[in-house]
Amino acid sequence: MTKLQDKVAIITGGAGGIGSGMAKAMAKEGAIVAIVDLNEEMGLATEAELQKYSPKSFFIKANLMEHANLKNIVKTVVEKCGKIDILVNNAHVSKQVPLEDTTQEHLDLSFGTSFYPTFYLMQAALPYLKETKGNIINFASGAGLDGHKTQGAYAAAKEAIRGLSRVAANEWGEFGINVNIISPLAYTPGVEAWSKAQPEYYEQVRKQVPLGRFGDVEQDIGRAAVFLASADSSYITGQTIMVDGGSIMLH
Ligand SMILES: NC(=O)c1ccc[n+]([C@@H]2O[C@H](COP(=O)([O-])OP(=O)(O)OC[C@H]3O[C@@H](n4cnc5c(N)ncnc54)[C@H](O)[C@@H]3O)[C@@H](O)[C@H]2O)c1
Repeated sequence: MTKLQDKVAIITGGAGGIGSGMAKAMAKEGAIVAIVDLNEEMGLATEAELQKYSPKSFFIKANLMEHANLKNIVKTVVEKCGKIDILVNNAHVSKQVPLEDTTQEHLDLSFGTSFYPTFYLMQAALPYLKETKGNIINFASGAGLDGHKTQGAYAAAKEAIRGLSRVAANEWGEFGINVNIISPLAYTPGVEAWSKAQPEYYEQVRKQVPLGRFGDVEQDIGRAAVFLASADSSYITGQTIMVDGGSIMLH
C-alpha cells in the first residue's frame, strides 16, 4: 500500500485514540508521520508501533496549549523531513458543563487545545503546504453540529474550526491546498470507559447508529483520513465528511 509514499504528515493528539488510528493507517500507506502529543508514555509506544511500517516516523512531545511554541513543531518536522504534505489537527480536550456553569477556564481549555493550535499550525505550515500542494484535515463533532447539551465550550470550538476550515479552503485553494473536516464516531479509550460505566446508555447510543457500531480508529477513521490526505480526494475541499456510521446526515 503506497497511497502516501514518502509524504510527511503531522498529526496532533497522535499518541492515542483516533489520532493513533490515523497515524497507523497513514504509516502503512508509506507516510512519515510525526505524532504530536502531551502524553510521553503513549507517544513513545505509538512511535515504536509506527516505525514497524514507516521507520522514519517519530513522536514530538508538546503541549498544544502553549501557543507560542507551535511554530517549533513545524520547524522540527521541516528540519527532520525537509517538507510537510499533510497536517491533521485532531487533538481536543474539553469538559461537559451546562452553559450557565461554563467559565472562562472551560472555554480556554476547549479553544486552547483545539481551535488555537489548529489555526496557528495551519498558519505556520502554510509556506510548506504551498510547496507540496498539501492537505489539511481538521476535526468537527456531531456534538457541535447538533448542539448537544453540556457541550457549549466544545461545540463552539468545533464549529469555529469548521468556519476557519472553509475560509482556508477558499483562500488557499489557489495554492492547490485542500482543507477538509472529519466529523467522526469511534471506539476510543474514552468511549470504552464510558461503555463500561454506563453500559445501557452506551447500548442505546450504539443502536441509534444506522451502521450499528462505533467506528474503528484505524480501519474507519484512519482510512477516511488516508483518502482525504491522498490524491484520490484532490477535487474535494471545504467539506465536512461524516465518518460516523450515518449518525448525522448532512443535507
Ligand atoms: N471519539 C469520538 O467518537 C469522537 C466524536 C466526535 C469528535 N471526535 C473528535 O475527534 C478527535 C479525536 O478524538 P479522540 O476520541 O481520539 O480523543 P482522545 O481524547 O482519545 O485523544 C486526544 C489526544 O490528544 C492528546 N492531548 C490532549 N491534550 C493535549 C495537549 N494539551 N497537547 C498535546 N496533546 C494533547 C491526548 O494525550 C490524546 O492522545 C477530537 O478532535 C475529538 O473532538 C471524536
